[in-house]
Amino acid sequence: MGIKKLVFSGVQPTGNLHLGNYLGALKNFVSLQKEMECIYCVVDLHAITVFQKPNELRNNVLETVAGFQASGLDPEKSIIFNQSSVPGHAELAWILNCIARIGWLNRMTQFKDKAGSDKEKASVGLYIYPNLMAADILLYKATHVPVGADQKQHLELSRDIAQKFNKDFNCKNFFPLPEPLIPKKVSRIMSLRDGTKKMSKSEDSDYSRINLKDSADEINKKIKKAKSDSEEIPDNLKNLEKKPEALNLINIYSEISKISLENVLNEMSGKEYSYLKTKLAELLVSEITPVGKEIKKLLGDKSHLEQILKKGKEKANIIAEENLKNIREIVGLI
Ligand code: AMP
Ligand code: TRP
Repeated sequence: MGIKKLVFSGVQPTGNLHLGNYLGALKNFVSLQKEMECIYCVVDLHAITVFQKPNELRNNVLETVAGFQASGLDPEKSIIFNQSSVPGHAELAWILNCIARIGWLNRMTQFKDKAGSDKEKASVGLYIYPNLMAADILLYKATHVPVGADQKQHLELSRDIAQKFNKDFNCKNFFPLPEPLIPKKVSRIMSLRDGTKKMSKSEDSDYSRINLKDSADEINKKIKKAKSDSEEIPDNLKNLEKKPEALNLINIYSEISKISLENVLNEMSGKEYSYLKTKLAELLVSEITPVGKEIKKLLGDKSHLEQILKKGKEKANIIAEENLKNIREIVGLI
């Protein structure tokens, strides 16, 4: 018998969802829910690895659920819940803290980026963040994990942890090795101001990103101001290699219009970037503003969002407890 396919992914509730989350993760979540059983988790325990104001955290969890639903996730089809409501995540994370090696964590580039120059002052939680992520996935024995490219290294660590657990406890194939599902074309949407950095909610300038809640006016302004290139649009990708901002705009256009990169260049070569920007802004307004409006509408009924989380928690907890029973037994915990 083959193993049952199960999708798991997590999104941090740390404020505005943006175009990077939408193209890198959420759209993929939505298409997967048509084919497989899916669990989507708002990872509040990950969020508190850096300080969050309690009231903002509570609101951001609900806003992330609203973002899920507005992007097309259906709580009747997919399990949607917040991480801290299922205690098994923290319990399994502890067990996996005892499996993962310090040397493995020392290689994680996201920790290095987030901790900055003074690593001594970073929380211990931030350091062991990838172990909690492995616990999220393995708690459900998930087989497929849709994420953006920035999470690839964490996924590899989850596989290493699963493998070591299976080997240490002599329980071959107990944890499946989770496979990343990273979108090929838009695995990394870059900042509109600096094409070498990923679009992120933590960048200071709001002009660096398109938020799902942005108005048409804001989207138009941000795209107009986005960094591009003073030369005209080239006819081949090679000429864009040293122009990450221009390439990023073309990539986003290609993804949203569903026109291949080659065809976009065929259509636009020789034109100025202002031409691409006008078309891109139009497309973004028609794709993103309805999602933003829906998020705002859904946020008007918090009890509906809380109800989604409650139902999701109940379903998730059943799977988690069943698996934890076996995990405790394997590890020798009474
Ligand atoms: P986060 O908000 O950091 O929890 O990310 C949620 C999901 O969005 C993860 O799957 C990330 O890999 C993905 N993601 C975040 N930023 C980007 C980006 N700039 N480009 C593509 N995917 C992204
Ligand atoms: N670390 C992921 C991010 O920052 C979020 C996350 C937490 C996650 N747990 C996960 C993603 C489990 C996939 C699977 O984007």
